[in-house]
Amino acid sequence: MAISQQTPPQQTPSLSQSQESSNSLSSLSQIHQPVLLDECVQLVSTALTPENPWVVDCTLGLAGHATAFLKAVPAARLLGIDRDQEALGLAQERMQAEGLSDRFLPVHAAFDQLDEILNAHQLNQVSAVFMDLGLSSLQIDERARGFSYSQDAPLDMRMDSSQELTAAQVLATYSLDDLTRIFKDYGEERFARPIARRVVQTRERAPLRTSSQLDRLVDAVVPKAHRAPGNPAKRVFQALRIEVNGELDKLVSTLPQAASHLRLGGRLVVESYHSLEDRTVKRFMASGLKFDLPQGLPVVPEQAQPFFEDLTHGALKASGQQVVSNPRSASVRLRAVQLTRPIPAERQQEWTQTSDHSVYSHHHVGRR
Ligand SMILES: C[S@@+](CC[C@H](N)C(=O)[O-])C[C@H]1O[C@@H](n2cnc3c(N)ncnc32)[C@H](O)[C@@H]1O
Repeated sequence: MAISQQTPPQQTPSLSQSQESSNSLSSLSQIHQPVLLDECVQLVSTALTPENPWVVDCTLGLAGHATAFLKAVPAARLLGIDRDQEALGLAQERMQAEGLSDRFLPVHAAFDQLDEILNAHQLNQVSAVFMDLGLSSLQIDERARGFSYSQDAPLDMRMDSSQELTAAQVLATYSLDDLTRIFKDYGEERFARPIARRVVQTRERAPLRTSSQLDRLVDAVVPKAHRAPGNPAKRVFQALRIEVNGELDKLVSTLPQAASHLRLGGRLVVESYHSLEDRTVKRFMASGLKFDLPQGLPVVPEQAQPFFEDLTHGALKASGQQVVSNPRSASVRLRAVQLTRPIPAERQQEWTQTSDHSVYSHHHVGRR
């Protein structure tokens, strides 16, 4: 996907087009309530300095966090990335309505193009990189995009509607082994193989096209006695969404890019919503926090010195009260680190060779 500086807001879908029941910009804050907003604002805003007031929001969405960062620090400047053109258009409208446009740079791209984006804007170093992973409530609630198993819709699931691969295509073309792997690895689904087998049998008669067809298929395969609470298709839907959007691969490749663009004292702040994402973030951060060295070494070698400080002491979760007022926050894990020393060249090199999300664990990292 090409990076594009976003077009003016009038050329993108308007709020009234995407939300029939509402045509007021202020309703954006109700469509998607930002998760752990105060905590994120605190972590990001204290990293910004007059010399380097730049924050990158890799997951702009409806700009709930982004507008709060800009309001908290009147000199702050924000580069906001989203691969969803509709979200980006709405975020731009919101920035304009709130008088923040002159400190805001919108970019339509996937966040794993961070290096390229920052180079293109001559932003070699920034003070904070923020990620609020996953989907916005706008995407989940938009029936036509097929993210939700509770609404019947075509099996689409693309965050970027200009991309080719859809969930229906994955189900129609992937081999039995690949479908099994996806359901198992990305959905942590116990019945991955029988579900994949049923998909392959079903598509021999007719392709699977809708979310309710898939929902019924999973329901017919997973034995009643082995069901966890909730919809049994939940994990299969999550797996397809991760595959269609390359979510974990993109996260793995973006975290090192983000760290490499932090100024000394800069911060990486990430909110994850499922264990696979959180594990990836945790392992990446741990790779700069602590090293298991042989006991009694007289001097710790330069390349083995920690270069991150853990600002959240593991993961922050939402309080009971926050979950009641914003149910999306139930599964959040917020992790943040500060860059305290230059990143050793060896580590940067290892990161750039990283292509699978288990890799950060290969390092002699302190387990947390
Ligand atoms: C949870 S929402 C962000 C909500 C935002 N923090 C707010 O308060 O309005 C996540 C957003 O990240 C975008 N996104 C997810 N993965 C992405 C990727 N790899 N590259 C760019 N944007 C991505 C989604 O399209 C979605 O709009």
